[in-house]
Amino acid sequence: MERFVIRGGNKLNGKITISGAKNAALPIIAASVFAGEPCRIENVPEISDVRMMGKILRYIGAEVTMPEPGVMVVDSKNVKADITIPDEMTRKLRASYYLLGVLLSKYGCASVALPGGCYFGVRPIDQHIKAFEALGATVSTDNAIVDVKCDELYGSSIYLDVVSVGATINAMLAAVKAKGLTVIENAAREPHIVDLANFLNSMGADVRGAGTEVIKIRGVSEMHGCTYSIIPDQIEAGTYMVAAAATGGDVLIDNVIPKHLESISNKLEDCGVTVIEGDESVRIISEGGRPRACRVKTSPHPGFPTDMQPQFATLLTICDGNSTVVEDVWDNRFKYIDQLRRMGANIIVNGDTALITGVDSLHSAPVEADDLRAGAAMIIAGLIANGETSIGNIKLIDRGYENIVEKLTAVGADIARVSFDED
Ligand code: EPZ
Repeated sequence: MERFVIRGGNKLNGKITISGAKNAALPIIAASVFAGEPCRIENVPEISDVRMMGKILRYIGAEVTMPEPGVMVVDSKNVKADITIPDEMTRKLRASYYLLGVLLSKYGCASVALPGGCYFGVRPIDQHIKAFEALGATVSTDNAIVDVKCDELYGSSIYLDVVSVGATINAMLAAVKAKGLTVIENAAREPHIVDLANFLNSMGADVRGAGTEVIKIRGVSEMHGCTYSIIPDQIEAGTYMVAAAATGGDVLIDNVIPKHLESISNKLEDCGVTVIEGDESVRIISEGGRPRACRVKTSPHPGFPTDMQPQFATLLTICDGNSTVVEDVWDNRFKYIDQLRRMGANIIVNGDTALITGVDSLHSAPVEADDLRAGAAMIIAGLIANGETSIGNIKLIDRGYENIVEKLTAVGADIARVSFDED
């Protein structure tokens, strides 16, 4: 069993280069099946979720290779449609359900065990099903398997009752080969939605309006291979921005799209942190004592990302004053706060709101990563706590952060990945 061991108190100084976006790579890798021939995908982050998606594509018959670091080539000429993606795979990777949209669109049928993923409240897929049915598919969820099938998919209007990244993506994937025009309304606007649309269009699809709440897709009959480079990871970048601010450091976060980070940069400025935007970088300078308290409310892009909520709340534990964090996307994304309390944080949770009273400092304690972003929050807590903090369940962190120990060590963090005997 491995744990991260962090000795806190070091200011982070230097440069961190951001990898490709996990939440863009996963739908793009799944969508490469449309090509029926090789697709070369570049700037792919080397993280376990991406490796799992590659494993799932191999399971359905694709040839998946990594010819060089950060590059994945998918050749889907031998993909089989009539195969169920089993629970032991979908339990490990919720995004495996993107294959429902791809296989339904390409072959007229798909079968995927109900998805798993991080647990922070109910994670329904009713809007995905609504999109598939609107396009003419029949959907059943007997025996915890989602079965979708259709003779033909026809373009339709789809109004998503809730802004959903996954449902927007699955609706796009199901619509790209449907006959006629599909209009997705109340669509998610995240950067990874735009990246997927650009990738689909590189393969010959006709997707317009991604990044706005109305996406229009005119179905095409043929799609082809392409070479495509994934956008930088907005949440990885935000995580290191907050880590730099929390440690009182001066860090250049390189290979980013500053526009994607605006809500995070603005919140850090509310806390008195200096953010200097370059063309493809942001510099975080936080050398003037404790950050100011502030109010954070998560919402779909371009609002403050829910995937940054645990990390930012950790910064607020040592801010000067009282802060509030409102989680408005997920039902229950405050489980990690129990771990922060073990380190001396003063937080009261009341429904969708966490009330944080800033303390001078956190102290070390053995903690666990409850999920991917909660794990990132524990790392930030360890970086600022007095003493040595050890973090368990770090496989959850490896799902979404490439080379996190190397990247943090390079800017002065005292962090190591340590193997422990199970006993
Ligand atoms: C994606 O999850 C991300 N995962 C999550 O990031 C992220 O937290 C989330 O979007 C919101 O930005 C990936 O991209 C792989 P949603 P997804 O559908 O698509 C409700 C990470 O750390 N909803 O946008 O599952 C749902 O309950 C992960 O990288 C329905 O009601 O999220 C939630 O309240 C964790 N019905 C809200 O919508 C549906 O059919 C947003 O969920 C679908 C969703």
